[in-house]
Amino acid sequence: MAAPDPCLLVILGASGDLTSRKLLPALYEQHAAGNLHPRTSVLGVSRRAKSDEAWRDELAEAVRSRVANFDPALWATLAPRIRYQAGDAARPDGWEEISARIRRESLADECGNLLFFLAVAPELYDPIVAAIGDSGLVPRERRACLGDPAAPWRRVIVEKPFGVDEPSARALNQRLASVFEESDIYRIDHYLGKEPVQGLLALRFANGIFEPLWNERFVDHVQITAAESLGVEDRVAFYDQTGAIRDMIQSHLLQVLAFVAMEPPSVFAADRIRSERRNILESIQPPDVERLEEVAALGQYAAAEGSPGYAETEGVAAGSTTETFAAMKVHFDNWRWAGTPFYLRSGKRLAAKRTEVVVQFKAPPTNLFRTLGQDAEARVAEADRLIIEIAPQSRVRMRFAGRAPGATFSLKTLEMSADFGGRGGGAEPEAYGPLILDAMRGDQSLFKDREEVEAAWAAVEPLLGAASQDLRRGIAGNYAPGSWGPESSKLLLGRDGRSWHDDG
Ligand SMILES: NC(=O)c1ccc[n+]([C@@H]2O[C@H](COP(=O)([O-])OP(=O)(O)OC[C@H]3O[C@@H](n4cnc5c(N)ncnc54)[C@H](OP(=O)(O)O)[C@@H]3O)[C@@H](O)[C@H]2O)c1
Repeated sequence: MAAPDPCLLVILGASGDLTSRKLLPALYEQHAAGNLHPRTSVLGVSRRAKSDEAWRDELAEAVRSRVANFDPALWATLAPRIRYQAGDAARPDGWEEISARIRRESLADECGNLLFFLAVAPELYDPIVAAIGDSGLVPRERRACLGDPAAPWRRVIVEKPFGVDEPSARALNQRLASVFEESDIYRIDHYLGKEPVQGLLALRFANGIFEPLWNERFVDHVQITAAESLGVEDRVAFYDQTGAIRDMIQSHLLQVLAFVAMEPPSVFAADRIRSERRNILESIQPPDVERLEEVAALGQYAAAEGSPGYAETEGVAAGSTTETFAAMKVHFDNWRWAGTPFYLRSGKRLAAKRTEVVVQFKAPPTNLFRTLGQDAEARVAEADRLIIEIAPQSRVRMRFAGRAPGATFSLKTLEMSADFGGRGGGAEPEAYGPLILDAMRGDQSLFKDREEVEAAWAAVEPLLGAASQDLRRGIAGNYAPGSWGPESSKLLLGRDGRSWHDDG
């Protein structure tokens, strides 16, 4: 794997939560692991005035509270490379000072690489990208630097949410393309930086035993769950405009689904992996908008002792139909998966905090053990289940039926389990770190391309638009906190003779 190039990482939105909670802890971890190029530095930009020192002090506190084994001496070797510039990045005149500082910090010799990170509210992406374009920092014609055969690069990392629907994603793609080459645009989804998600690729493609079974002939169905036990907490304003489909399903869950369902790439290379992910998302069958209740279920959590329901939460619009729970059934129009449904669900205030993929293989053609009674039938029904846990555990489990010891013949459920992350229980690094390094080395494998983002929006579009009104009618308080969501979610699988894997 190529080493990351040196660059100036320009974080736009430096005073924000993402920067202090995720980005700087991630950079510190990568610095501690010796992965950052020694000439890489950081310039934070946001509107409020503060000195380099004041920002470093803020960050030192934030990093200390978030990383395991914070080492002040190590921080002291990174801190001098962290600087701050006040400025309004959404206004072209704001860029006079910002670009002067960037040139001073990094481009004095015209050879510096620049990595912009849009860590601001999504409505600012468009004006900020336009202003970067106007600043002249991203020349269309790259000049090779004197004595350096490689031209300096200009790249941009764009945070999610990438648009609020397909048209807005397309408009943002056009704006980005007016300033950056597609090969320089990194649409980040930090889920793809999680080791167990990448472990899915290894599990599928580094072993011979799964791939022959990984299709509609042997897989009954797949479930992908991202459940949270907390409510909306302090993200009410954002969440009420967003909901579970935009926040989780369109982005994270469809990305995980793409890794589970995609065809093997011919080589392990960014463009091949991205093209397979895009193909699988584009082969999602559009649902019949007249019968959405057969493919989706939406909900809002009710009140519980001591905590208000979503609808009564301060800041939530009166009569809001924003979903805090969403489940959907996905069918693919392709040879591998025709007829095998993928069920996705995500929600807040659910029974557990858990992200997992469950691959349920088909039962044996006939159940030899049916004469042993209902218990044996139940054992067979829950066997042949591969459970890939992404969080909070990071492991893979295979559940199967075996004989229970004893004088009479009966069945019991057995499991094989392996630590997926392989860190032996050690803390996983912040997922942003490896992704930022990938952007520094020019590897787009784990970033979404233009068509992939648009295909993911197209897949959920019917559940967001006017056609979803019936699904949203009466959702206020339709599931109890601590449950696994509304009845309609159980029915989604129940109608198909299946049930959610709720027992962990
Ligand atoms: N927080 C997370 O964990 C998380 C996770 C996934 C995705 N995201 C996404 O990441 C982005 C940032 O999220 P966040 O939670 O960090 O938001 P945030 O806390 O609101 O921070 C954004 C920062 O941007 C700065 N800002 C606003 N207008 C600006 C302008 N015109 N020019 C320069 N800076 C400006 C603000 O600082 P000043 O007032 O000083 O300008 C503010 O502190 C959002 O798109 C969010 O959806 C966040």
